[in-house]
Amino acid sequence: MKGGTALHGEVEVSGAKNAALPILASALLADGTTTFRNVPDLADVATMLEVLRTMGCEAARLTGKKADTCEISIAGNITPEAPYDLVKTMRASVLVLGPLVARFGRARVSMPGGCAIGARPIDQHLKGLKALGADIHLTEGYVEARAKQLKGGMVNFDVITVTGTENVMMAAVLAKGRTVMENCAREPEVEELARVLNKMGAKVEGAGTSVITIEGVESLNPVDHAILPDRIEAGTLLVAAAISGGNVLVKHARPEHLDAVIDKLREAGCTITAEGGGLRCKAPRSLKSVNITTTEHPGFPTDMQAQLMALMTVSHGTSVISENIFENRFMHVPELHRLGADITIQGHTAVVKGVKALSGAPVMATDLRASASLILAGLRADGQTEVSRVYHLDRGYERLERKLRGLGADIRRVKERA
Ligand code: EPU
Repeated sequence: MKGGTALHGEVEVSGAKNAALPILASALLADGTTTFRNVPDLADVATMLEVLRTMGCEAARLTGKKADTCEISIAGNITPEAPYDLVKTMRASVLVLGPLVARFGRARVSMPGGCAIGARPIDQHLKGLKALGADIHLTEGYVEARAKQLKGGMVNFDVITVTGTENVMMAAVLAKGRTVMENCAREPEVEELARVLNKMGAKVEGAGTSVITIEGVESLNPVDHAILPDRIEAGTLLVAAAISGGNVLVKHARPEHLDAVIDKLREAGCTITAEGGGLRCKAPRSLKSVNITTTEHPGFPTDMQAQLMALMTVSHGTSVISENIFENRFMHVPELHRLGADITIQGHTAVVKGVKALSGAPVMATDLRASASLILAGLRADGQTEVSRVYHLDRGYERLERKLRGLGADIRRVKERA
């Protein structure tokens, strides 16, 4: 990309990756054909569909005008197993564990290892399933869970976990009796999963708060559901407008899901307004530095930390950015240095001193949100920036370069998607 163009115009947000992944897994809970719409076309979604097919489901994305729709059905016998080859490419494959044990009485799912941004254990997922009566063993790198019939129970998470909350919720909907889950994640994606489960006939209350109560039911029905817009993609596009000095309407961005991000963009001097079912970001003449501390929802999301850091590299003043969710989520920092950013890391805190200008350079993406932050910085940098290992981007952003080009950015993909 060549930096320096102020972005203008309108852009649409796709469906939310982190809602789509658990929701696709939830199709395991019902017989018949489940239909999900507004499913983003991402590498991670393709992996989840592959996980479902490997088990014996029919799971496919439709084509043509219905290319945003996925249909899933359980045709015959299910092999309730998620193999290492798939789980190692996407940790969220572990989301099949809860539905499998609830519906089929057993599951064998490869243990996800660590990943670039942290160790990311799944002890809380297992603690929750044990509380519902599942017998859990770890053998040969796999989690084996068994239960003739799960029974409702008390689950108090020691750590707030998004996919852990989702996994246990999907198990509890078919457990016998009442489950109370405490210290749950409150992310909009957890709420969206509960919405889908309730449409299927489940009795979930309290999703979106830290206490979720579930009355188990005997069986669930297939549903037709359109997935909510991706708040992190929306936030990334708002930052694209801000860092380029532009004025962009991000359609479908939901203000109620982006409070913390909107607050920080306003503090940095941007004008953010709700408009036409979306959010408009108008950049100021000069951006101000702001401090950021990532926490669980409704706090500032870790998934927006790298993008806001890119913005802070060219803001006036000094910004202190603390990452409290993952222990290794500053891998974009050495790459931002290559573009001329002034950032010092002390433990889980980064101190960013705004510079007058960034200068384009070849850089390397290390994970999904890091790749987005490098592209944002490249939009602002003088000269040419080339981001390699862009497959990280395709895990979570649907054709970001096309969306940015539609806003006037001088950006192209050098190699086509695999
Ligand atoms: N944790 C544990 N034990 C557990 C589970 C989590 O100690 O059993 C710790 C983790 O190591 C981490 C913290 O709890 O330090 C929070 O992790 P969480 O489980 O909430 O993360 P996750 O469910 O694995 C989801 C998103 C991530 C997002 C995080 C935090 C999905 C599929 N993934 O991951 O999304 O960063 O929540 O909000 O929903 C991304 O989209 O780029 C991404 C990484």
